[in-house]
Amino acid sequence: MVDNQHWLDRWKENRIGFHEPTVNQHLRQYLPQFSLPRGACVFLPLCGKAHDIVWIAQQGYEVIGIELSQLAIEAFFEGNRLDYERFDTDRFGIYRSGNISLLQGDFFDLSNDDLGACSLVYDRAALIAMEQQHRPGYCDHMLSIIPAASNMLLITLEYDQAEMQGPPFSVPSDEVYQYYSDAFSINLLESNDIIDERPRWRKVGLSALSESVFRLDR
Ligand SMILES: C[S@@+](CC[C@H](N)C(=O)[O-])C[C@H]1O[C@@H](n2cnc3c(N)ncnc32)[C@H](O)[C@@H]1O
Repeated sequence: MVDNQHWLDRWKENRIGFHEPTVNQHLRQYLPQFSLPRGACVFLPLCGKAHDIVWIAQQGYEVIGIELSQLAIEAFFEGNRLDYERFDTDRFGIYRSGNISLLQGDFFDLSNDDLGACSLVYDRAALIAMEQQHRPGYCDHMLSIIPAASNMLLITLEYDQAEMQGPPFSVPSDEVYQYYSDAFSINLLESNDIIDERPRWRKVGLSALSESVFRLDR
């Protein structure tokens, strides 16, 4: 079972194969296309210590991230040599450095007040970190906390779930439409076969792996 303890243990044991060594290439390519005004807020659910956080902040945006693991958040600030302030609320430990705010706690405890006027959700390895039975709840909660005008850049993976246990879990495109088509107009920006880039996963039995990038607009 992939519960909160699973993720905390992974950070403790440094089993963080999901962490990319550089800024995500799709983020670099597609974020500018949203033409967000300077100072707009970008929300990163389940943000880990991704380099994407600091890159988005460097583009002149406010970043709000939510992450369960204190280790991950502190590793993020230390790795990027950023001084931070921390204070606690009843639900979250809040870390602030310049235009970056990382909330340590559970995504499912977030309310719309916590996100303020966030303009864009950047979901990389967040929806696909959820087991199938939790994905409808994750998407419903997402829709209940983000502002009505907020758009989304979403990256998913799809493979034969019988060939590998997640996480990451396979999220077929039709699930994305199922969860989000009432709220957004959904545009598949690209879909690529990436199994050759993940030899480790071929080794554990995957025969095919496709990555899709979606743009979701209100
Ligand atoms: C697959 S990782 C992706 C991290 C990041 N998005 C990236 O691209 O590197 C999923 C992250 O979500 C965190 N996480 C899992 N469940 C969570 C929850 N309910 N609330 C907040 N964070 C959670 C985990 O600790 C982990 O760091």
